[in-house]
Amino acid sequence: MLVTGRGMRLSLFQLLLVLLKTLISVNAGITSTFIRSQLPSAVIPLDDEAFSIPKGHNAPQQVHITQGDYDGKAVIISWVTPDEPGSSNVQYGTSGKKYGLIAEGTVTNYTFYNYKSGYIHHCLVDGLEYDTKYYYKIGVGDSSREFWFQTPPKIDADAPYTFGIIGDLGQTYNSLSTLEHYIQSGGQAVLFVGDLSYADKYESDHHGIRWDSWGRFIERSAAYQPWIWSAGNHEIEYMPNLGEVSPFKSYLHRFATPYVASKSSNPLWYAVRRASAHIIVLSSYSSYVKYTPQWQWLREELKRVDREKTPWLIVLMHVPIYSSNQVHYMEGESMRAVFESWFVRSRVDFIFAGHVHAYERSYRISNMDYNVTSGVRYPVPDQSAPVYLTVGDGGNLEGLAGRFWDPQPDYSAFREASYGHSTLKIMNKTHAVYHWNRNDDGKKVPTDSVVFHNQYWASNWHRRRHLEAGGEVDC
Ligand SMILES: [Fe+2]
Repeated sequence: MLVTGRGMRLSLFQLLLVLLKTLISVNAGITSTFIRSQLPSAVIPLDDEAFSIPKGHNAPQQVHITQGDYDGKAVIISWVTPDEPGSSNVQYGTSGKKYGLIAEGTVTNYTFYNYKSGYIHHCLVDGLEYDTKYYYKIGVGDSSREFWFQTPPKIDADAPYTFGIIGDLGQTYNSLSTLEHYIQSGGQAVLFVGDLSYADKYESDHHGIRWDSWGRFIERSAAYQPWIWSAGNHEIEYMPNLGEVSPFKSYLHRFATPYVASKSSNPLWYAVRRASAHIIVLSSYSSYVKYTPQWQWLREELKRVDREKTPWLIVLMHVPIYSSNQVHYMEGESMRAVFESWFVRSRVDFIFAGHVHAYERSYRISNMDYNVTSGVRYPVPDQSAPVYLTVGDGGNLEGLAGRFWDPQPDYSAFREASYGHSTLKIMNKTHAVYHWNRNDDGKKVPTDSVVFHNQYWASNWHRRRHLEAGGEVDC
């Protein structure tokens, strides 16, 4: 041990690190031994029934819904008509075949290189009742089509709800397996963590066509329950060689988000509240450094979070902040440097990301003391920190990211390079059951299962906040 004051501090710090590492080693992480084929996923041909075109002249296709307001009493219904604009109206009601209500939508289209899109309709249906099944009808005459959705329970701290989490889906046979597994899971809404169709990976003539096929592909789920969208790098489609220099052009035309309801200035970042969850969507590929619009918006949105009403605070982004996979390693470091202290201070429960084509779950750790000058650089256990979950394993054509750093770092709890999806079943304001479900292995028991305690209600934090506000502790 050095005798100088500086040296003494260093020794104590090292001792602390050893103690912390000893504590972590009690919960050493798991690197699954399951090995999935490293070959790229096979793309489903365009004429496959997975992309089937509905019958009838100008029949609506690519039907999908998303939450349409801040609190879950509205949906945005979107679809495409291929031949002519037709009607943008939605007829709806609470019993099948009886559509006593009507909402008026809008229609748009766009070009991308030599592709001209169909007519893209978006219709806001608002003023809905909570916890109610609605039937809706779109299109005209014999070509009209009917679907249904269920509204969430009203905002309430104990409202149970099940979210699915899917990322980097694409349109391969593995994508289809993921989607079919998810549909069987009982999930009520999808939190989608970016990289949707991978249309940008196809021949330049097929970019638009592969957006259309993907829209038809996800309809089996997305027409019946909201998918909460966040954008990934495959949505950017910045292709100056094709004369396309407007980022997110296809994505923004096709996928609406209720960004205005959360006072956002941009559809790429926004928030919704649903049942007992407050969900914040961030854009990894839009500016977020200090003073930018996204930074300012997030600062204000975190102030609007009310854990007494929505105990579960969930953040979605595309690029993971903590990942021990060698692919895309540390690409999330810049966002960590900007936002991590806010996530910890706000007691975020979960941060879901995609981008890395594998699955990984972290322990609760933070690295807010990182200091490029002093050399402090290790993440440490932090019970105030979120759990970071990477679910970029939807099944796209690029294949799996199978190379993890070895040995497994202390912050990594479980990791496996397989395709799959997750479900988060919120039970009440204190507990949620989380599963990561690997595709195709025929097991009934999901591969990674954890019971999570809420970061607000299952800790002493809310008691302190309540007392500071002059209240009495009631639980
Ligand atoms: Fe990505």
